[in-house]
Amino acid sequence: MSGQPNILGLGYYVPDSVLTNPDLEEMVETSDEWITTRTGIKERRIAAEGQGCSELALHASRRALKDAGCDAGDVTHILLATFTPDYCTPTSSCVLQGELGATRCQMAADVGAGCSGFIYSLDLARGLLALDPGATILVVGSEVCTARLNFSDRNTCVLFGDGAGAAVLGGGSEAGPYVVDAIQHSDGTLGHLLPVGREGGSASPYKLGQAVSEDYFIQMKGRELFRHAVRGMADLTTKLLHRNGLSTADVDLFIPHQANLRIIEALAKKLGYPMQNIYVNVDRYGNTSAASVIIALSEAYAAGRITSGDKVLLTAFGAGLTWGSALLQF
Ligand code: UT7
Repeated sequence: MSGQPNILGLGYYVPDSVLTNPDLEEMVETSDEWITTRTGIKERRIAAEGQGCSELALHASRRALKDAGCDAGDVTHILLATFTPDYCTPTSSCVLQGELGATRCQMAADVGAGCSGFIYSLDLARGLLALDPGATILVVGSEVCTARLNFSDRNTCVLFGDGAGAAVLGGGSEAGPYVVDAIQHSDGTLGHLLPVGREGGSASPYKLGQAVSEDYFIQMKGRELFRHAVRGMADLTTKLLHRNGLSTADVDLFIPHQANLRIIEALAKKLGYPMQNIYVNVDRYGNTSAASVIIALSEAYAAGRITSGDKVLLTAFGAGLTWGSALLQF
């Protein structure tokens, strides 16, 4: 379909180091049995010492550009979704631009929307492509969640992992996969359910020499979030399908945010969608926040789970609170 933003290439990268549930049993009072039954997570990847958000993004971006048949010099815009940037400044998107050698890039920007960051960025890329159909946009989700994990807090440290995924988007042509539609939502009144950095930001800055407290790390009211996550993703997904004259029966593969297998199962039940058509990798990577959906999409694509003609539905939910859904046509 002409005028729709094309998906030219996909790629992902996860660090080699694996942290298993039995490893976590050695660190906090938890058990493989608790983590498995409450979350579905068996293991997660951990970035190496000194391996920041932009480095993971670089590996994923190179793979996506190769898949697209593009060079770094073709990239005109970079949108990098993360809540774990290398630094406050330079932004990780600018670091990525420099490392990639994307010399023609007109805009490199980080997007902070928690776990929904990749879908938010995909929607922003659609807007940029509407203004400039000749653009080639690198849309990345990259996280080193472990940099913000308190490994003495069992409520959070078992849930998250590190990784990155990237998509290359270009102007609409008749052929190839494209983004059909996307829809976002936010509710800032619920931000207290998933704060990160209640200390160490401008609202509560550290003084020189002050010790880091637990408020620097991810904190969450899990049970409340769970309810909002299922309702938010189900409502938005339904709205997106309806406004495109579709129902869940038209969706070939559903790729929800990989935070917890029980959330995914509850979402499937609420939507009346079969679990066998849902892509799940939370068992291997845990919650990689803004990287979660794009890692799953790239992995599903590489594994041959997506074929030409398929409709693929993405949805995510995260800190902010934020949530979003996108519909892709392959
Ligand atoms: O990506 C952004 C979106 N993320 C989410 O939406 C996450 C949503 N929430 C969840 O995934 C789940 O609520 C959790 C996995 C975080 C927690 O599962 P839950 O079934 O809601 O457990 P809970 O918070 O109700 O806690 C049950 C019990 C508590 O003990 P008490 O108070 O009942 O004695 C916790 O202290 O489980 C305890 N607990 C643990 N026990 C062993 C919490 N974490 C652990 C642990 N190991 N790691």
